[in-house]
Amino acid sequence: MESGRAEPTIFVIVGGTGDLTRRKLLPALRSLAEQEMLCRPHAVLAVARDREIDDEGYRRWAREALASAGVSPEELRDWCDRALYYQPIGEATGTDYRALAARIEEIETELGLPGNRVFYLALPPRAFPDTIEGLAGAGLDRAPGWVRLVIEKPFGRDLATARELNEVVHRHFDESQIYRIDHYLGKETVQNLLVFRFANAIFESLWTRDRVENVQITVSESIGIEGRSGYYDRAGALRDMVQNHVSQLLSLIGMEVPSSFAADAVRYEKIKLLKAIRPLRPEDVVFGQYERSEPGDGAPPGYREEPGIAPDSSTETYVAMKLWVDSWRWQGVPFYIRTGKRLARRLTQIAVTFRASPVCLFETDGVCLTNPNVLYLTLQPDEGFALCFDVKVPGEPYRLQTLPLDFYYHEAFGPIPDAYQTLLYDVLVGDQTLFVHAEEAEASWRLFGASLETEAKLHGYPVGSWDRNDASVSNSD
Ligand code: BG6
Repeated sequence: MESGRAEPTIFVIVGGTGDLTRRKLLPALRSLAEQEMLCRPHAVLAVARDREIDDEGYRRWAREALASAGVSPEELRDWCDRALYYQPIGEATGTDYRALAARIEEIETELGLPGNRVFYLALPPRAFPDTIEGLAGAGLDRAPGWVRLVIEKPFGRDLATARELNEVVHRHFDESQIYRIDHYLGKETVQNLLVFRFANAIFESLWTRDRVENVQITVSESIGIEGRSGYYDRAGALRDMVQNHVSQLLSLIGMEVPSSFAADAVRYEKIKLLKAIRPLRPEDVVFGQYERSEPGDGAPPGYREEPGIAPDSSTETYVAMKLWVDSWRWQGVPFYIRTGKRLARRLTQIAVTFRASPVCLFETDGVCLTNPNVLYLTLQPDEGFALCFDVKVPGEPYRLQTLPLDFYYHEAFGPIPDAYQTLLYDVLVGDQTLFVHAEEAEASWRLFGASLETEAKLHGYPVGSWDRNDASVSNSD
C-alpha cells in the first residue's frame, strides 16, 4: 500500500448496518484513519432502511461492532463521533434519495469537504440496479468533486446478467469511476504474484510451456456455508469462488508481462489471458457436494442437512476443472483449478510444477530418483512460497530428498493488513489496478458460466476429506 493521504471525501456506505460493513468496512476505514491515511476531516455516511436510527444510535452500533477489533473505547469514541453519520433510506423512493443527496451536501458544508464522493454498495446483488438508478435519479452520479462507485461481488449470475448490470452502471457512470471489488485482489499475497513474476527476472524465462509441466490452483476451505444458505444455495462454488477469486488467481499467474504497472495495462493483460482460455468441455469439469462423514449428532452435517438447504439441493460445494490456454506461452500446459467447502483444511495455493530433467542420471533398479521442481505460492494461511528441489542426503549410496527453499511473510514482515484496507484506500486515491474491469467480469462469465448450463453429475464427498495425492499439498506437510 502506498503511503500518503487520500483526498477529503465523504464515503457513503449503502447497506451501512449490514454484516460486511460491521466486519470489514468499518474496521478498515477506522484503521486507515488511525494510520492518518485519510484526510481530516472525512465523513462516513451509513445508509440503511431503518428510520429509527439516528447519528448517535449508529455511532453506538459502530462502537460495539468495532470493539471486537481490540480498539480502546476512547479511540473508538473519538473516531466514531467525529466521522460517522447515518441517513435512513426507508423504502428507497425518489424522495428518500433526494433526502440522501441533501444530507450529503449538508455534511460536506458542515465539514468543509470539497464534494468528492464514494458510494459503496454493500448490498445483496439484486438491489444493485435499483440503487444505482436511485442514486442517479437524485443527481448523485455527479458531484462538485469526483464520484466513485464501488460494487461488491457477485457481479451478475451469468454472462447475460453481468452484461445487464454493466449496462445499468454505464448508463450513469464511466468505467473509470467504477470499482468492482474482488477481495482476493486486496490480499497482499495475491498482489505479490505480480511482484514475484515481474520483479524477479529469473522466473520469466521459466514461465513458459518449455519449462512448466502444469499449474494447479487450490482454494480449499474447511468452513461450510456459515449460515448463508439463502445466498449460497442460489450461487454454488462456481459462482461464489471460481468466476471471481479463482479467475483472478488464474489470470495473474498466467498473464503476459504488462507494458507498465498502470491499471489499464495490467487489466488489459488479465482480460487477454481469460479470452485465450479454450471453452470448457463438460468432461473437464467435476462438481461435488459435501456429505456427512459419519452418522451421529456430533459429526458436522452434510450440505443437504444444513439449515435452510433443501434435502434434494443440487448446488455444488466443490468444483475442479482442467483448463487449456491457447497462447504461445501456455499451449499444451494444463491448468488445474479446484475449490471447495468443508474440506480438510484451509489452503489457498498455486503450485507450478516444472518439467523433469530430460534424462535421469540418478536411478536405482531402473527407477528414477529425481522429482520435478515445484514452486508453491501459498496465499493463505502460512503466506509465503517454497521452491522445492532435490538434494543429496549425506552418506552413501546416492539417496535424494526433496527439500524447500522457502520464505514466510510473517517471519519477514509480521502481520499482513486486511484486504479491505488496501482496497478502500485504492478507491480513495483512485487506483483501479486491483479492481475488476467490466470486460474482465464478462470474459470470466463467458468462460466459466457455460459449464453451469450443462447437466453435470454431482459427486458426494465426505466432510473433512482431502485428496492425499493432491500435488498442491506443500512439502512441509
Ligand atoms: C467469499 C465467499 O467471497 O470468499 C465465501 O463468498 C468464501 O464463500 C470467502 O468463504 C473466502 O474468502 P477468504 O478471504 O476467507 O479466502
